[in-house]
Amino acid sequence: VSLPRCSVYFTRQYRGFWIREFVLEGMAAAQASFEPRPTDVFLASCPKSGTTWLKALAFATLNRATHSPSDSDHPLRHHNPHDCVRFLETRPVPETMALPSPRLLATHLPCSLLPSRITECGRVVYVCREPKDAMVSFWIYSNKIAAVLRRQLGLEAPLPTFGEAFELFCKGQSSSGPNWCHALEYWEESRRRPGKVLFLKYEEMLQDPIGNVKNLAAFMGCPFSCAEEEAGVVREIVQLCSFEKLKNSEVNKNGNSAMMGVKNDVYFRKGAVGDWKNYMTPEMAARLDKIVEEALQGSGLTFGISI
Ligand code: A3P
Repeated sequence: VSLPRCSVYFTRQYRGFWIREFVLEGMAAAQASFEPRPTDVFLASCPKSGTTWLKALAFATLNRATHSPSDSDHPLRHHNPHDCVRFLETRPVPETMALPSPRLLATHLPCSLLPSRITECGRVVYVCREPKDAMVSFWIYSNKIAAVLRRQLGLEAPLPTFGEAFELFCKGQSSSGPNWCHALEYWEESRRRPGKVLFLKYEEMLQDPIGNVKNLAAFMGCPFSCAEEEAGVVREIVQLCSFEKLKNSEVNKNGNSAMMGVKNDVYFRKGAVGDWKNYMTPEMAARLDKIVEEALQGSGLTFGISI
């Protein structure tokens, strides 16, 4: 498939991963001069794995002393989560360096391409998602982005068909892919440095948001006190960041994201598990499952709910 540079599918292979050109530039700048602090928290993920949700939850949890989740003026009621937590690789380094501590940043970079100082010094929260659902979510998202590029900039960004995108994905050729290798690197890092890398799964977060937010808070160094738990603060954070609340807020229904200039609603679609069944044949699913299973063999990592 021949893809134009502006397509979200236009990536370059770099040290085993398929990365978008502008991300490689941002990565090089961060590697050269970003200085982490011990209080930094990085939210890492492959695209379409729950990044927006994790940004909202971590932001609300870390900043709850200054912004009560029940506050009608809470930043997440008036801003998209991507405008509250920026990506390391897409912001100028001096801008991220100037943020006050504790800094909350995000990244789609694979663990091996992060400046090594980050995993040595700060903390990383990783969220993974079952690859079939992530693939479908990305394909639909990229259709929306292509429409925006065409409308706003007159750029033609023809997309692969679903079948073509699936073939590329199976070969590992997706934004920050191979998707499963991205997860595997962070998984291994979380086993090497359990206090430094917290590994979360989108499906488990949906199943038990309260438990996951408590874990997240403890990991970020701001555990909920008994008084907070009794007052229902954890539940308020989960509600504030719920799919329905975020999707239906005025800013996310009608506003534009400062990050990409696209409408905020592109980040909220179904928020469900298993939507791949509406797009992939059982044969496609079995083929991708096999590729993933072989790649993860012996690692202890499985996608979806852990049994
Ligand atoms: P779907 O396209 O399957 O609906 P990312 O934030 O990494 O781009 O991931 C986007 C996916 O997360 C989309 O999945 C989106 O709908 C879902 N999502 C966004 N906000 C969510 C929330 N608060 N709770 C659960 N899922 C959410």
